[in-house]
Amino acid sequence: MKKYKHTIAVFVLTILSTIGLYALFRFFLFRFPTQASAEAVIIDNFADIHFWMQAFLFALIMVIMLYAVFVFRRQPDDESEGPHVHGHTGLEIIWTIVPTAVVIGFAIYSVGILNSLLAPAPGERTIEVVGRQWSWQFIYPDIDRKPSSELGLLVDQPVVLHMRAEDVIHSFWVPEFRVKQDLLPVANPETDYYVLRFTPTEEGEYKVRCAEICGLQHSTMFATVRVMNQTDYDAWTAVVAEGLSLDDLASLDDMTPEERGEIFYTQFGCNGCHSLDGSALAGPTWLNLYGREEELTDGTSVIVDDAYLYESILNPNVKITAGYNPGIMPQNFEGQFNSFGWGDADQITNDLIAFIRTISDDTAASSE
Ligand code: CUA
Repeated sequence: MKKYKHTIAVFVLTILSTIGLYALFRFFLFRFPTQASAEAVIIDNFADIHFWMQAFLFALIMVIMLYAVFVFRRQPDDESEGPHVHGHTGLEIIWTIVPTAVVIGFAIYSVGILNSLLAPAPGERTIEVVGRQWSWQFIYPDIDRKPSSELGLLVDQPVVLHMRAEDVIHSFWVPEFRVKQDLLPVANPETDYYVLRFTPTEEGEYKVRCAEICGLQHSTMFATVRVMNQTDYDAWTAVVAEGLSLDDLASLDDMTPEERGEIFYTQFGCNGCHSLDGSALAGPTWLNLYGREEELTDGTSVIVDDAYLYESILNPNVKITAGYNPGIMPQNFEGQFNSFGWGDADQITNDLIAFIRTISDDTAASSE
């Protein structure tokens, strides 16, 4: 027993350190967000095995090294040379074969996980996702291809996202679902898209984040994700169903300019940077904007009227409101409007202006 004293000590210390390090990683340093999808469980289990592995390897090396440093340190009157060691074939074979087997084991395990994440689920629901600077749009084929700036999901219903970017590379990421997918601009949105699958399992409100740096306002490229029960989901669907169908743009003809402007506000992602409630985002709020006197960065000021708004939507860099930065608002709205499939840039810009006129505390008060 005495012969194995050091071996047993190192063994016990390694086990204890492994458990301690694992707890440190898992519960203090790298805590995971809520597990809100079926995939989150699979991914977390996989990550868990990595944490155990890392804790064990770090503990093994550190324990042996520190044990040797402290227990086998030179005694005060010991001037002798230590034993000469010239390798150990058995040990070298072990430390080659074991890590190789571990790495191959991880590879097989992760291919299995990847396959299960990519496999189509029975009854899955398709949702189209469009990423653009700097907003998300979700289009629901099962609600007549109506768009929304929110991702509305039914709990426990598998979904498949068909995703594309409109301008630069973006990346769809909901940490609570643990899945992530980059999306690039595609030549033909009908046939080309990036696929992501998951099944939300926890009701609640989450956020899609863009996980690929995509320009100045990358950090504000959020959208709300709602995972709802059947009752809430039906109510939410009814609201989306009242909106415009992207398959039926002719219905815009029957709306007032103000109604159309409200649709365009989310359709073209204005809501990503301009609030309607007075809060400052990347751009000035639209609340009480019309008729207001705005100070510009060059020290002059301007009364917000039709001409100023028209210019600022189509040529946003000409006049910059004090406190905001040039180059943030996309400068391609003229092209986006002209290729929308209804009206032209002039009509859409004027409808947006008509909508902006209605965003005022006075109208809110008088309509109550
Ligand atoms: Cu889109 Cu970052």
